[in-house]
Amino acid sequence: MIFTRTAVARLINTFTVFRKRKIVKTQLITLVAGARPNFMKIAPIARALDRARDRFRYEIVHTGQHYDEQMNAVFLRELGIPEPALFLNAGSGSHAEQTAKIMVGFEAYAGAACPGLVMVVGDVNSTLACSIAAKKLNLAVAHVEAGLRSRDRTMPEEINRIVTDSISDAFFVTEPEGIANLLAEGHAKKRIHHVGHVMIDNLLYQKDKLEKQGAAAYASAGLKAKLGRYGVVTLHRPSNVDDRETLARIIGALAHIADELPLIFPLHPRTQKQLDAFGISTGPHIHTTPPLSYMEFLNLWKDAALVLTDSGGMQEETTALGVPCLTLRDNTERPITIAEGTNRLVGTDPARIYAEVRWILDGGSRNGRRPALWDGHAAERVVAALPGILA
Ligand code: UD1
Repeated sequence: MIFTRTAVARLINTFTVFRKRKIVKTQLITLVAGARPNFMKIAPIARALDRARDRFRYEIVHTGQHYDEQMNAVFLRELGIPEPALFLNAGSGSHAEQTAKIMVGFEAYAGAACPGLVMVVGDVNSTLACSIAAKKLNLAVAHVEAGLRSRDRTMPEEINRIVTDSISDAFFVTEPEGIANLLAEGHAKKRIHHVGHVMIDNLLYQKDKLEKQGAAAYASAGLKAKLGRYGVVTLHRPSNVDDRETLARIIGALAHIADELPLIFPLHPRTQKQLDAFGISTGPHIHTTPPLSYMEFLNLWKDAALVLTDSGGMQEETTALGVPCLTLRDNTERPITIAEGTNRLVGTDPARIYAEVRWILDGGSRNGRRPALWDGHAAERVVAALPGILA
């Protein structure tokens, strides 16, 4: 066969274009965010990728799992998260409905964009849905905050963690227990990266910003000044708020505590809905508010006498700042917050909760320390590991 000069040039061109495309495409990283706790985790990763923009291109896909202004847009703005390339509008519905809607939307996006890596964070339904859709397209998936296990399979997040980790290609881990869990499940050591905690990167960054700006501009400053000593509550786990008797028992315990320590309680939409449905009142000394922005909330809890919570992230953030934390659950997927931090599991028995609160109010304290690598530089470590994952 004889090749003309043009044909050869065309061949070379095609090859170059193909290679160029390949180079560009393998450098595209898709960051997935969907629910409130995801936003704190992608913000520092986006910042670190911005600093490495000569090597990586990224875009954000927002699944719309959380959609209210206060659960979503306020966070994107305050945390400085770039405009998402795509909003899937998949909020609400049952778990199956929500997960399915996200999968369908994300499959269409990822099939066309063909990213070199899909990065999912945490353990919400969006994490699960996008990792499954991506793997079915043979795309590489990296899971940030991998390896955590509560061993409680009644928790939707535990199912999300197990499934996501079972199909991910790379694991970014916050604590040694995460490494042990992944190794025990048969994952190769070389795929596991102990980078620390991107959510703590965000916390330290925003706290620094708050201190530089001064808190006076925040509405929470007035409430703080009025109350003096106070506690902060967050509650939204289905196991705590979806059952009338359990929710009534917890609110009863909180009302009792609030007789001597005023409590500030920003209500998650799920919790608000259930309080209304069950006709449960929070009483006169619990200051309920709508969901707060990250900064308003940080301004409150960082100076609280104690935090009562069932959130995963709050257990870690309180540990990072040394604020006493009582977790209204029987288990945690974040054991380092107990071993090294200020966290204590107290379940939902009112007598137990009250005894623990009493101990703290009487001056009891746990001299926690900030776990290794929770130092504000985890996202840089994530980005440093990317060349090995994208290759
Ligand atoms: C989800 C995550 C949970 C995370 C929590 C943080 C899962 C399985 N759960 O739980 O891990 O700790 O987010 O907030 O992914 N709603 C609104 N407005 C919103 C968002 C939700 O009104 O912006 C309502 C929904 O309609 C629904 C309820 O709140 O009735 C729960 O929302 P959903 O996203 O299903 O789960 P969360 O409880 O928020």
